[in-house]
Amino acid sequence: MYFIVTKVDSRNFVLKGDIAYSKSQTKIQSFENSYLVCEKGKSAGVFPRLPAAFAGFPLIDYTGRLILPGLTDLHIHAPQFSFRSLGMDMELLSWLEKHAFPEEAKYRDAEYARRAYGLFVDHLKRGPNTRFCIFATLHVPATVILMDLLEESGLVSMAGKVNMDRNSPDILREANADASAAATREWLTALAGRNYKNTYPILTPRFIPSCSDDLMRALSGIQKQYALPLQSHLSENQREIAWVRELCPSSNFYGDAYAQFDLFGANTPTVMAHCVWSGNEELRLMRNRGVYIAHCPQSNLNISSGIAPARRFLDMGIPTGLGSDVAGGVHTSIFRAMTDAIGVSKLRQCLAAKDEAPITFEEAFWMGTLGGGSFFGKAGLPGNAGAAGSFDPGYEFDALVIDDADLAAPFRLSVEERLRRTVYLSDDRHIAAKYVRGKALFG
Ligand code: GUN
Ligand code: FE
Repeated sequence: MYFIVTKVDSRNFVLKGDIAYSKSQTKIQSFENSYLVCEKGKSAGVFPRLPAAFAGFPLIDYTGRLILPGLTDLHIHAPQFSFRSLGMDMELLSWLEKHAFPEEAKYRDAEYARRAYGLFVDHLKRGPNTRFCIFATLHVPATVILMDLLEESGLVSMAGKVNMDRNSPDILREANADASAAATREWLTALAGRNYKNTYPILTPRFIPSCSDDLMRALSGIQKQYALPLQSHLSENQREIAWVRELCPSSNFYGDAYAQFDLFGANTPTVMAHCVWSGNEELRLMRNRGVYIAHCPQSNLNISSGIAPARRFLDMGIPTGLGSDVAGGVHTSIFRAMTDAIGVSKLRQCLAAKDEAPITFEEAFWMGTLGGGSFFGKAGLPGNAGAAGSFDPGYEFDALVIDDADLAAPFRLSVEERLRRTVYLSDDRHIAAKYVRGKALFG
C-alpha cells in the first residue's frame, strides 16, 4: 500500500480513508474511501468527493485505514492508574480504604506525583481516548503537576483537585471545610497564570460521605464565583447509599444531597459517575436538569457495585457517556467500556430486568464518542470550547486512524463490520495516528 504522508502544521487539512461515526444514538454511518475535512481545528464534514473549496488543503492519504472519532472517558482517577488490577476481589468501601486512600496519600510528595502522573499521561497519549474528566487527589501541587502534563500531551481534559474533609484516614483528609475551600481557591489561583489551551478545572467533591455540609456550601459558592463544571459519584453501591441516608437525613435521595447545595445540574454543568442504583425520582431530576451520567460498566463489575440501568438512562433521554473509572476499572480504553456496556446490559436483562432491552452496538459506540464528547460542549468551558465525538460540521476535530490490517477476515468486511472488529479486538498498537482539536499527536 502507498501513503502520501504530509506533515500538517496548520489546522486545515483533509484525511482520506474509510470513515465511520454516529449519525444518531441508534445509527452509525460509514463512508468508504472518502474525505474528512478539518478546518481551523473543527470538522467541516465527510465527503465522497472532495469539494473544490477544500482542494487546496494538504491531503493525508490513509486509504485502506479506518478513521473514527476520538473517544471520551467521562470518569477516571489519575492517581489510581498506578494500582490498577490490584484489589479486584474487593467491594467499593473496603477497596477505597485498603487500596485507593493509601495510594492517593502518596501524592502529597510532588516527586512521586510527577513520576506516577508521567506514566499515566504517556499511557493516555497512546490510547484511543482523546478527552477525559479526571479526578486527581486533594493535593494542590500534585494536581497542578498533573494538569501541566495533560496540557503538554495535547489531550483535552477537565481535571479536578479532590475535596474531602470527613470519613477518610488522617493521611488523606483536609482539616475542615475552610481548609478544603481555601486549597481549592489556591489551586484555581495557580491555574490562572498558566494559559492552558486544552486543560480545564472541574470542581470535584469526592462523594457525599467525604464532604461535610459546610464544605458543600463552600463549594457551591466557589462554583458560582468561577462558573465551574462539577464531577462526583452517585448511587454506586448499596452500602454507600445507606450511609448517605444516615449522613444527610434531610435529603430525599442521594442526588438530592447534591441538589440541596445547588450542585446538581441546571446552572452547574454536572457529570455523575455510576448511578447503578438510582431510582426514578433521581433519574427524572437528572434528565430535567441535564446532569450527565458516566456509565462505568467495568468498575461496576470489579468492585461489586452492580449493573447500572443503562437502557433506562438512554430511553429517558439522560445525557450519558462512558467512563473507565480506573482503578475500579482496569482498562483505560473506552473501546473496552463499549463492549462491557453491551455485555453487562445482557446480564441485566437475563437476571434483573426482563423489560430492559440490552444496549446495542450503535448505542455503546454513541455513548463512547458523542454521548460523552458532548459534555465538552455543555460544560461552559472558556473560549467557546465545543463538543467532540462526531464528524458532522462544527464538531471539534478529534480523530483516530486505525490500521486494522491484522484484523482482516477471509471474507470481505464492510466498514461497519471493521468498526465492530476494532471496538472488540484492537489495542493501542492499531492506532496509526491520533488527532485532537485538529492537531496530530502522532502519526
Ligand atoms: N466513590 C468515592 N471515591 C471513589 C473512587 O475513588 N472510586 C469509585 N469507584 N467510587 C468512589
Ligand atoms: Fe470513580
